[in-house]
Amino acid sequence: MRKALTRLAVVAALLAFASAPALAAIAGSGHDFSSETWNSSGEICKPCHVPHNPNPGGSTAPLWNHTLTSQTFTMYGTTVAGTTPDATPNAKSKLCLSCHDGVTNLDAFGGAAGSTPISGAANIGITLADDHPVSIAITPGSKGIKGTLGSNVVIYSNKVECASCHDIHNSAGVAKLLRTSNAASALCLECHNK
Ligand code: HEC
Ligand code: HEC
Ligand code: HEC
Ligand code: HEC
Repeated sequence: MRKALTRLAVVAALLAFASAPALAAIAGSGHDFSSETWNSSGEICKPCHVPHNPNPGGSTAPLWNHTLTSQTFTMYGTTVAGTTPDATPNAKSKLCLSCHDGVTNLDAFGGAAGSTPISGAANIGITLADDHPVSIAITPGSKGIKGTLGSNVVIYSNKVECASCHDIHNSAGVAKLLRTSNAASALCLECHNK
C-alpha cells in the first residue's frame, strides 16, 4: 500500500512536470486573460481559440475565436535602405492587431461584439508608421541586415511580422513576450549587423 502510494505520488509529480511547461508559459503572462473582467469565461485560451466552431472569418491561426480587425492602418514608410512594407498588415500581424489596434474590442470573441478596447501602453493603435516596420521583406545580407539571421526570430514568408519578435504564448518566458531577451539589444542583433 505504502509503495503504491509512493508510486502514485511519483506519477502525479511526473505528470505535473510534463504538463507544466506549455501552460506555465502563458499563465501569469501578459496574455493570461483568465482573471480579466472582460473575460467572464475565466479561460486562458478562449479569447483567441475555441475547440469547435471557430470564427468563420477564418485566419492563419488554428481554431481562431477572435473577431479580426477591420481597421485601415498607416504603414511604416520607405526605409533608409529603400524597402517599403506591404500596403496593409499581413494576416499574421492582423491577428495581433485584432486587439492591439485599440479599436477592436478585447471581448469580441465567440461571436460577441464586446465593449472593451485595449488601453494603456499595449495600445499600438492604427498608425504603424511610428513602430518598427512589419509586413516588410527581409533580405539577409542587404544593408543593415545580417547575412545569417539569429535562430530565435521567426520570419514569415520572407517578411518580418509582429510575431517575428514576440511569442504570443510566452514560450521563452522573456518580459514583453519577446522571443529572446533584448538585454544588450540581443533581439535587435538577431537580424541587424550593427
Ligand atoms: C492572445 C491570443 C492567444 C492566446 C490567449 C492563446 N493563443 Fe494559441 N495561438 C495564437 C496565435 C496568434 C497563434 C498562431 C501563431 C503563429 O502561427 O505563429 C496560435 C497558435 C497556437 C497553436 C498552434 C501553433 C503552436 O504554437 O503550437 C496551438 C496548439 C495553440 N495556439 C494553443 C493555445 C492554447 C492551448 C492556449 C491556451 C492555454 C492558447 N493557444 C492561447 C494566439 C493565442
Ligand atoms: C485577445 C486579444 C489579444 C490578442 C489577439 C493579442 N494580444 Fe497582446 N495583449 C493583449 C492584452 C489585453 C494585453 C495586456 C495589456 C495590459 O496588461 O495592460 C496584451 C499584452 C501584450 C504585450 C505586453 C506584454 C507584457 O508583458 O507587458 C505584448 C508584447 C503583446 N501583447 C504582443 C502581442 C502580439 C505580438 C500578438 C500577436 C501575435 C498579440 N499580442 C495578440 C491582448 C491581445
Ligand atoms: C523588431 C521587433 C519587434 C516587432 C516586429 C514588434 N515588436 Fe513589439 N516590442 C518589441 C520590443 C523589443 C518591445 C519591448 C520594448 C521595451 O520594453 O521597451 C516591444 C513591446 C511591445 C509591447 C509592449 C508595450 C509596453 O510598453 O508595454 C506591445 C503591446 C507590442 N510590442 C506589440 C507589438 C505588435 C502588436 C507588433 C506588430 C504590429 C509588434 N509589437 C512588433 C519588438 C518588436
Ligand atoms: C526579425 C528581424 C528584425 C529584428 C529582430 C529587428 N529588426 Fe529592425 N529591421 C528589420 C528589417 C527587415 C528592416 C527593414 C530593412 C530594409 O529597409 O530593407 C528593419 C529596419 C530597421 C530600422 C530602419 C528603419 C528605416 O526607416 O530605415 C531600424 C532603425 C531598426 N530596424 C531598428 C531595430 C531595433 C532597434 C531592433 C530591436 C528592438 C530591431 N530593429 C529588430 C528586421 C529586424
